[in-house]
Amino acid sequence: MPILAPPTPAQLMRDLPSLDDLRRRARRRIPHLAWEYLDSGTGAEEGLGRNREALSRITFTPRFLRDANAPDLSTALFGRRWAAPFGVAPVGMLGMMWPGAERHLARAAAEAGIPFTLSTVAAESIETVAADHAAAGGAPGGAWFQLYAPTQAEMRRDLVARAQAAGAGALVVTVDVPVGSRRERQRRARVAMPPALSLGLALDLARRPAWVAATLRHGIPRFANLLPYASPAETADITAFLRTSLSHAITRDHLAELRDLWSGPLVVKGLMHPEDAVAAADLGADAVWVSNHGARQLDLAPAAIDALPGVVSALAGRVPVLFDSGLRSGADVARAVALGADMCFLGRAFAWGVCALGAPGAAHAIAILREELASVMTQTGCVALSELRDRL
Ligand code: FNR
Repeated sequence: MPILAPPTPAQLMRDLPSLDDLRRRARRRIPHLAWEYLDSGTGAEEGLGRNREALSRITFTPRFLRDANAPDLSTALFGRRWAAPFGVAPVGMLGMMWPGAERHLARAAAEAGIPFTLSTVAAESIETVAADHAAAGGAPGGAWFQLYAPTQAEMRRDLVARAQAAGAGALVVTVDVPVGSRRERQRRARVAMPPALSLGLALDLARRPAWVAATLRHGIPRFANLLPYASPAETADITAFLRTSLSHAITRDHLAELRDLWSGPLVVKGLMHPEDAVAAADLGADAVWVSNHGARQLDLAPAAIDALPGVVSALAGRVPVLFDSGLRSGADVARAVALGADMCFLGRAFAWGVCALGAPGAAHAIAILREELASVMTQTGCVALSELRDRL
């Protein structure tokens, strides 16, 4: 019998009104190594601050003398309307950070009418998540699949075929991981799958009873999309298997091959240079996703938001431009939309929601972003997203 009723959405909005509140609560609730995996950047971690500083420099001049009290947050992409211009970015092993996180987020995104992207290295399979998405009333095509294209052609083709059969609404090919990056914090925290048992880990887990209880209920997280391809010996050392199978440069030939294999919207994720964006469009990409991987790959990459206008102008409307890296609020979403993003994505922020509150945290993070974005639009006198650019 529950001792306390779960908080209502209104109580959550009062007690935890910002994504930063969710971040603080998430940090307390999950094991240190899971936190370090989620939170870290790469190298000296200058890129994390650069993403944030560049965003916070963008200001809007408000316009008054008109009524914008009911702004329209909806937007069009890939032939359908979405309820808001933001979605869930692919985050590997979300299920290690909070058990069942991928499923919670897929259901919440379906209910909210925003895109959800499942990572290749998720803890849940594309089949499970697509079924959850549909069961939650998600419109067809709302669950997307992110591909770290495997080195083995057979595995590559099979993964794409599975995503197609499951009804994934877009294939998001990530190209900004030619090799795993140096993440010093993750080394120090002994991030590994499965984690090595140690006294330190046991003591840490003793302080995270909610996470331990949820993991016992849900089971140990696994690389659910990839296990079918690993032999028993490879399963025993799954990290080495993933390193050899997934870590390599994605070339134009790979993109051309994937374009042939995949009949739906093809998105190329992780581009920063205008010429790469044009090359992706030339190869048949249906959208380009500007990102510096949340400052996790190349620490001396420019702030992703600073790369956005160049890509938007080089593509000149040929294909939509998607964006992520460093977004922490609905105000940040407004900033990226004003600079030309057709759809924005957040990685860490949605993970914070679920780690902080379990399943209700997914819907709460979405509600915060919606409320903040609507507030910025009303405050600046914008009834439609397209007007935001005129407030820069
Ligand atoms: C990621 N990202 C990522 N990207 C991808 O294409 N496939 C993946 O499996 C992952 N995994 C992953 C794990 C974790 C813990 C993080 C934080 C990020 C990158 C992700 O899709 C997105 O580009 C960034 O998270 C955006 O930056 P913010 O929103 O986290 O600042």
